[in-house]
Amino acid sequence: MSTFKRNILITGGAGFIGSHVVRLFVNKYPDYKIFNLDKLTYAGNLANLRDIEKNANYEFVKGDIVDGNFIQQLFSSNHFDGVIHLAAESHVDRSISNPMEFIMTNVVGTVNLLNAAKSSWLSDSQPLNSNRFYHISTDEVYGSLGKSGFFTEETKYDPHSPYSASKASSDHLVRAYADTFGLPVVISNCSNNYGPYHFPEKLIPLAINNIIHNKPIPVYGKGENIRDWLYVEDHARAIDVIFHKGKKGETYNIGGHNEWTNIDLIHLLCKISDKKLNREAGATAKLITFVKDRAGHDLRYAIDSSKIQRELGWKPSLQFEEGLEKTVDWYLANQSWTNNITSGDYLKYYEAQYIHR
Ligand code: NAD
Ligand code: DAU
Repeated sequence: MSTFKRNILITGGAGFIGSHVVRLFVNKYPDYKIFNLDKLTYAGNLANLRDIEKNANYEFVKGDIVDGNFIQQLFSSNHFDGVIHLAAESHVDRSISNPMEFIMTNVVGTVNLLNAAKSSWLSDSQPLNSNRFYHISTDEVYGSLGKSGFFTEETKYDPHSPYSASKASSDHLVRAYADTFGLPVVISNCSNNYGPYHFPEKLIPLAINNIIHNKPIPVYGKGENIRDWLYVEDHARAIDVIFHKGKKGETYNIGGHNEWTNIDLIHLLCKISDKKLNREAGATAKLITFVKDRAGHDLRYAIDSSKIQRELGWKPSLQFEEGLEKTVDWYLANQSWTNNITSGDYLKYYEAQYIHR
């Protein structure tokens, strides 16, 4: 007989955002059992969770959400009453070179989880009040903005990349399971995250790593594209609030009200790095290199997060300059984390430690 009040399944918990969500829940809710289901793709890294991996209320499960039988069995043998679904292929550039991976994990994997939650929660009675299927999604489903305006929860979907189209598809399927079967769902669409444990293929950690090693900083096109950046721990706090207080069937937009062109962001990063690395003012900026643009590159994302602020009382806590400086400090202090990734050593660790359950 479990002594835990709730069994929560978090998918993708070994990734960037997932690891922050797992850490927050394991530490904040000792009376919840947190199951972290992750396939450990190239983006999953258990080193992200060393500080909590021995906690009594944490369990890691290695598994693939695309494997429907495995997911059904997992739900039958553990009575999950909540799901926070983050597992996904997340990198836009990879979706351009290999879209099918994105369809399998982001679409088929999400449907496998929806089916398992449906048979577990709706088979013989009404779902419990605490049952909640929470799908973590992206602002990229809304497409691209011009110079003005913001994405609201009512903005029409208009995805452009295979990644955003796969996330839009999974959002629609989550809503379809609510409308058709009465599954208790909630969705959030967030803007660009940054912070510790961000995989060094994404703009900010890639740039920091290249700066440390005096390598060129690749800026796509003219660097004019705009993103709305949010510190990852602020996103994790929003996920906590929405999971516990969000209304069934609702969507919440999460963002930083913090728009930067890529080139201005990189210049700020270079300025911070000059200071941290004791370089002459302007030395790091010499590494900036303009490269071929991303195909179908969305111009601007910007989130109107007034709904979550008004209804659930969440707001971002960190100013960007402060968050970026914290992030640079973390990457400088944890160079072995990045080096293990760039050398491929972290993949060997998994092979030695875990077998498919
Ligand atoms: P990430 O790539 O860092 O992590 C994804 C995790 O999912 C990895 O641990 C990976 O091993 C796991 N995974 C991938 N395929 C799997 C499969 N088939 N079965 C089980 N596990 C699998 O991604 P992230 O940046 O942390 O994003 C997490 C979620 O948040 C995604 O759903 C993404 O769409 C969404 N999101 C990300 C951002 C952002 O800025 N990074 C912003 C908004 C929304
Ligand atoms: O908006 C939320 C999305 O943010 C999430 O859904 C995605 O999972 C996440 O990866 C992120 O997508 P982006 O494509 O915006 O992030 P990325 O870090 O890849 O790129 C940020 C911007 O920087 C984008 O305009 C492309 C540009 N870029 C990116 C890379 C990797 C460069 O100029 N050079 C680079 O080397």
